[in-house]
Amino acid sequence: MKNLISRLALGLAGAAAFAPVALAQVNPTASSVQEEALMRALQSGQTVTGRITIPDASASVLIDPGGRDWAVLHSGTLQWLSIIAVVGTVLLLALFYLMRGRIRIDSGFSGRKILRFNAIERFAHWLLASTFIVLALTGLNLILGRSVLLPIVGEGAFGTLTAWGKVAHNYLAWPFMAALVLVFVLWVVHNIPGRVDWEWIRQGGGLFSKGVHPPARKFNAGQKLIFWSVIIGGALMSWTGIMLLFPGEVGTAADWQFYQVIHAVVAAVMSALILAHIYIGSIGMEGAFDAMGSGEVDENWAKEHHSLWVEEVKGRSAPAEGRGASATPAE
Ligand code: HEM
Repeated sequence: MKNLISRLALGLAGAAAFAPVALAQVNPTASSVQEEALMRALQSGQTVTGRITIPDASASVLIDPGGRDWAVLHSGTLQWLSIIAVVGTVLLLALFYLMRGRIRIDSGFSGRKILRFNAIERFAHWLLASTFIVLALTGLNLILGRSVLLPIVGEGAFGTLTAWGKVAHNYLAWPFMAALVLVFVLWVVHNIPGRVDWEWIRQGGGLFSKGVHPPARKFNAGQKLIFWSVIIGGALMSWTGIMLLFPGEVGTAADWQFYQVIHAVVAAVMSALILAHIYIGSIGMEGAFDAMGSGEVDENWAKEHHSLWVEEVKGRSAPAEGRGASATPAE
C-alpha cells in the first residue's frame, strides 16, 4: 500500500513536470490509443517527441533512445574502461618493478654531466605534464567521482571538489593545448621513425634484460611512441574538448555524445601510457629524472640509453672544445 502511494505520488510529480509537453502530445479523448502508440514507439527504439511552439527543435524530444544508450555507456562501460586503464596499468607497473627492479646505470655514475634538455624544453614539458595531470584527475572525477570519491569524502567535500575541478578542467585545457603545440615544435624532428628504432624494438629496448643497451638517438622507439601518442591523443582530446566546451556549436545530442565518448576513451588510453611514462621517468630508471629536473644527465646514463645522441652531441661540441671541426665523435 505504502509502495502504491509513493508510486502514485511519483507519477503525479512526473506528470506535473512534463505538463506543458504532455499536453501537446496526449489527446485526452483518445488517451489509451496514444499510450499504445507511445509504448510501441518506445519498444521499437524510436525517438519520442512532443509538439512545441518554440523554435528549438531539440526541446521537443521526450525520450531519446540514443541518450539512454549513452547513459548506460557513460555510467557503465566508460567507468570500467577508466578503472581498468588506471588500476590495470599501476598493477602491471608494480609487477614489472618486482620482476626487473629499478633499471640501474650498469657502468655506474661517471660524475660528468651532459645537457639533455634546455630550459625551454623543460618548461614546455612541465607545463604539459602539470596541466595533463590536473586534467586527467579532474576528468576522472567526472566519470568515477560519484561511485568512488563521493562515498569516501561525503557530499559537501565532493560537491566543492567537483565544482572547482570542473573550473580547473575547463581553463587548464588552454595552457595544455599551448604546451602541446610547443612540445610538438621542439621535438618533432627528433621523433621521426628510423631504421635504428627497429633494432631498439627487437631488443625490447633493453627493458627486460640487464646489460642490454640498444643504440638510440635523442629519443628511442619507446619515447617516440609516447611522443606521437601524446601529440595525436592530445590533439583528439583538444578537438573533442573544445566541442564539449561549446555544446551550442556541436549540433545534435548524438554529436555531443560522440565527442564525449571519444574524449573519455582517448583520455583512458593516454592515462595508461602516461602512467608508464611517469614510472620510467622517475622510480623505474636510475638517472632518468635529471633530464627533466636539472636538464643534465650523467654521461654514462646517456651512453647506455642514447649512445648515438651522445656521439652527435660530442661531435657538435668538439670544435668549441678546441679539438677542431673534424674531430671524431666520442666512443
Ligand atoms: C610527474 C610526471 C612526469 C615525469 C616525472 C616525467 C619525466 C620525464 C622525463 C625524465 C623525460 C625525459 C626522458 C629522457 O631524458 O629521455 C620526459 C620526457 C617526456 N615527457 Fe614526461 N614526465 C612526466 C609527465 C609527463 C606528462 C603528463 C606528459 C604528457 C602528457 C609527458 C610527456 C613527455 C614527452 C612527450 C616526453 C618526450 C618523450 C619521452 O621521453 O617519452 N610527461 N618526461
